[in-house]
Amino acid sequence: MSSSAHVGTTAYTDTPLKRTFPTVAMPALAYTPLVAEETAAAYEKVRHIIPAIEWPAYAPYVKAINDLKKERNAVILAHNYMTPEIYHGVADIVGDSLQLAKEAARSTADVIVQCGVHFMAETSKILNPDKTILMPDMGAGCSLAESITAADVRGLREKHPGVPIVTYVNTSAEVKAECDICCTSSNALQIVESLGAPRVLLIPDKYLAANVALHTDVEILTWEGACVVHQRFTGAEMREYRESVPGVKIVAHPECPTDVTEEADYTGSTSGMITWVKQNKPEKVLLVTECSMADNIAVETPGVDYVRPCNLCPYMKMITLPKILESLLHMRDEVVVDPVVAQRARTAVERMINLQS
Ligand code: 13P
Ligand code: SF4
Repeated sequence: MSSSAHVGTTAYTDTPLKRTFPTVAMPALAYTPLVAEETAAAYEKVRHIIPAIEWPAYAPYVKAINDLKKERNAVILAHNYMTPEIYHGVADIVGDSLQLAKEAARSTADVIVQCGVHFMAETSKILNPDKTILMPDMGAGCSLAESITAADVRGLREKHPGVPIVTYVNTSAEVKAECDICCTSSNALQIVESLGAPRVLLIPDKYLAANVALHTDVEILTWEGACVVHQRFTGAEMREYRESVPGVKIVAHPECPTDVTEEADYTGSTSGMITWVKQNKPEKVLLVTECSMADNIAVETPGVDYVRPCNLCPYMKMITLPKILESLLHMRDEVVVDPVVAQRARTAVERMINLQS
């Protein structure tokens, strides 16, 4: 018999259900007139980036995945950095880390396929212990999540007794379990200030911490973590773009160094950046982030010219249509979180979600 834990307003079993799923045969994956017809709407959204001659290689996967989702009662949660054929072709929900966590919490599907990186899938599992959470590629990690361990956090607690610890969601479940509350790029400042403490540890991203410190009187302590995508941008590069592309607007992610965000017209989460572009409709904009962002929103922002550079996230790019199909066909790889760790991590994630609702 499974006992239940009560965290926040939601009851959770601490012995997750083990579901069995029927075997499904591999679909034919041919570009038939039916496939063309059923994927035509998706193609309209990606035609600016995928030439017509290449669509027959993607479309059969798009149709097969969408059919299989119905059969498995599955939902695809996709991060804003997914490639356009995933973002527009098969995703049910797209968003930044906070939006995906909230959607995971309210999902009624039996299966969640996480098209993003491993910490995002763990967050879904933490919030849904009884659901099957699938990762199309278990190797899709994150340089921030890999920068810190649970033992490191215990060391920080010993070194800074009484200082609350806020962890960015880009961390493992074990790290979240050692922390007081989570934050994402969209709410880090609000979470830090909500604690009412004069001093807060905000880990593991030293740049997110530095960006929050620019806007608060709370003393921010941090960790030596950084995002491999955003740490490479520089303030000098931003100034060069301002000179060479007159009138360009600069929109940055808070994982960038502060000399970048200080040059920016707006700094915010990936969804915050998208909203800013949609609302302000700049003629030319530089999205200082991962490359797929501009590809994904171009169709919804006619008249906006996206100026490069951008950097690819090697982890996010591990997720592909063939891997998503394999994942749903064979129900793998399933994300598992130790129930005791999950319960402690859930407290930190739910504190954040409850502060936002
Ligand atoms: P967002 O929550 O802003 O989408 O950021 C997640 C991430 O990994 C950015 O690098
Ligand atoms: Fe992690 Fe950076 Fe990739 Fe986001 S972009 S998943 S922070 S490595």
